[in-house]
Amino acid sequence: MRRPRRDRRRFVLKLTARGSVCAEIGVWRGDFSAQILRTVRPAKLHLVDPWVFMTGEAYGEARYGGKVAADQNAMDRLYEEVVQRFAGPIADGVVEVHRCGSEAAADLFQDGYFDWVYVDGNHLYEFVSADLELYGPKVRDGGLLAGDDYGVQGWWEDGVTRAVDEFVAGRGYEVVSLAANQFVLRKPGVSRS
Ligand SMILES: C[S@@+](CC[C@H](N)C(=O)[O-])C[C@H]1O[C@@H](n2cnc3c(N)ncnc32)[C@H](O)[C@@H]1O
Repeated sequence: MRRPRRDRRRFVLKLTARGSVCAEIGVWRGDFSAQILRTVRPAKLHLVDPWVFMTGEAYGEARYGGKVAADQNAMDRLYEEVVQRFAGPIADGVVEVHRCGSEAAADLFQDGYFDWVYVDGNHLYEFVSADLELYGPKVRDGGLLAGDDYGVQGWWEDGVTRAVDEFVAGRGYEVVSLAANQFVLRKPGVSRS
């Protein structure tokens, strides 16, 4: 029997350090965010998602393009639910929610700020490529760039896999794991685990 996704992804979080500074790009209703909070107990977790309903043919099969959420009202409700769900950690300053695309959010962080970033936003090739290019510099040397749906073909075709493979080639990142449709890449440089 196929294991629930939260179990399949647990090993990624086990590669990260308790008290680390991290981000999840693409939050949806915050299920993985909750798992990060429970497992990692981060010093800071930035949640980045525009919660925008996408129209257009390319997005017809996306959960935020009609497959699950029906319209912008549904996306607004999801955002409100996430803010409510993490009201405690938000009040404690542990969680910060950024309602914007990952590209705009990248400007908020200094280079080397993150111990790790989990990329699970728009899966189209150009978006995953941009996320890796933009957030690579935001991760400290020896930190991790990870994400979901490596090796999975969906409405995004092979966008995640192609973007990750191209990013890794020639950049000196160590491929820590490609198991369970997760990619986990270690940035070159001094490791502080
Ligand atoms: C696959 S879901 C995220 C699932 C979540 N990480 C989890 O594991 O529970 C993809 C999310 O990416 C968000 N998204 C779409 N475009 C985005 C962008 N440019 N930047 C950040 N997030 C984006 C969507 O709104 C959607 O909530």
